[in-house]
Amino acid sequence: MALSRRSFLGIAAAGVGGTALGLTGLRRFGGAHVGAAGQPLAPPVPLSGRVHDFALTARPADWDIGNAGAAHAWTYNGVVPGPELRVTAGDTLRVVLTNELPEPTTIHWHGLPVPFAMDGVPDVTQPAVAPGKTFIYEFPVTTPGTFWYHTHAGYQLDRGLYGALIVEPPREALAYDREFTLVFDDWLQDPDHPRENPDASGMGGMGGMRGMGGMMGRRGAPRRGAHGEAARIEPLYDARIVNGHASAPSLRVRRGDRVRLRLVNAGSALPIAVWLAGHELEVTHADGQPVVPRRTPALILGMGERYDVLITATHPGVWPLTAVATGRKRATVLLRYDGMTGGAAESGDAPSARDVLRYPELAAATPLPAGDPDRRSDLELSGGMMDPARWTINGRQYPDTEPIEVRRGERVRIRLFNMSMMPHPVHLHGHFFQVVSFDDRRLGVPILKDTITLGHMETADLDVVADNPGSRWLLHCHNVYHMMGGMQTELRYV
Ligand code: C2O
Ligand code: CU
Repeated sequence: MALSRRSFLGIAAAGVGGTALGLTGLRRFGGAHVGAAGQPLAPPVPLSGRVHDFALTARPADWDIGNAGAAHAWTYNGVVPGPELRVTAGDTLRVVLTNELPEPTTIHWHGLPVPFAMDGVPDVTQPAVAPGKTFIYEFPVTTPGTFWYHTHAGYQLDRGLYGALIVEPPREALAYDREFTLVFDDWLQDPDHPRENPDASGMGGMGGMRGMGGMMGRRGAPRRGAHGEAARIEPLYDARIVNGHASAPSLRVRRGDRVRLRLVNAGSALPIAVWLAGHELEVTHADGQPVVPRRTPALILGMGERYDVLITATHPGVWPLTAVATGRKRATVLLRYDGMTGGAAESGDAPSARDVLRYPELAAATPLPAGDPDRRSDLELSGGMMDPARWTINGRQYPDTEPIEVRRGERVRIRLFNMSMMPHPVHLHGHFFQVVSFDDRRLGVPILKDTITLGHMETADLDVVADNPGSRWLLHCHNVYHMMGGMQTELRYV
């Protein structure tokens, strides 16, 4: 039974060795140590005075992923994903959001340290934008990287309200010939009538208990969610998509090209494994932040996570890049060399755990200042056991979870521990965190991330430097069903 804590990392690995997913295949990172005096966390980019204006209209639209007929999606500007927003660090981003949905909505700028009032969390940073109304998001963008934007209201993310947000550095340090952004999602053909995933709790192997939990939930009053809304159970998806399509248009490259791919998992519930037949992936950025380049056959992306990778086009052909979630449908996009016609090579088996990059194998490109924490906070992630719609931090559902209190300038060490059966990509708003250790393996040079995915029984130590004052910054699981089921807390400046 695949209840091993590494089972989700060995996504679909059943065909290639099942749960024999130990640490044996992991290559230890033997790099440098953290310098005593590092660079500032986010090197401030001088403001350019330039303003980039965008208009995003959130509205229902028919969207066809290519093989299933039109679905009633909710979109930005009628397309899934929404338009890619591209700015240069130092510029000001100004987005006029018009809400043509039947419900209130907001936009969150995932990963970008924005001023608190622009963070887009309904009832926390702003009142949600009512149907028919507009709201102007405007803030200076100081951090280059691959980010994304999405609704932060209820379950709206699972209807298609997301897009990529690319912040270019004033001067690009990386050499490459072309680049593509690939935004992955799991797709509901009929989001108004989702089917519940019978294994949403991860307790499938203990059918009795899961069945019991499900029935208890169904018999009683509606399950209580984190925002007064009835909590829902993770759905069964109809398809996996990339850039809005089950099978996106080919990426055209020339032999010898260095190609930059920006990978984003915008899904609401499923971590994915991504690999490219015939090529290795050279990871250059994690959550938009530079790392020492590291080659790997495959990557796992929890929801909300991003990786930038380079590939070197040295094997002419037509190669599928594949994304797959545990035992579920695949999305592919073809890498097509110039002059190559015809079908694709096999995408091959899903990678085994030993092919998948793990956080401790990465090192920040620039060592970050280290330090002893001023405060510590232990967060135990749990839920799904007796009720597949109840997800907790230290046994409580948001808004009853205990906030993490911090003073400006302090360093708080957050220890996450996943007691539940399901993976949880934990995301912090308004700040990056340094990944000090993962699964009790210290990182030689901690990487900077804003989202980190913990499998069953995994731990992570994260250092947050409180450098973005604001009253209430969310920290939550980026599985929307877990988030709405209560797995949230707040980082509060006191
Ligand atoms: Cu990507 Cu709280 O969000
Ligand atoms: Cu979760």
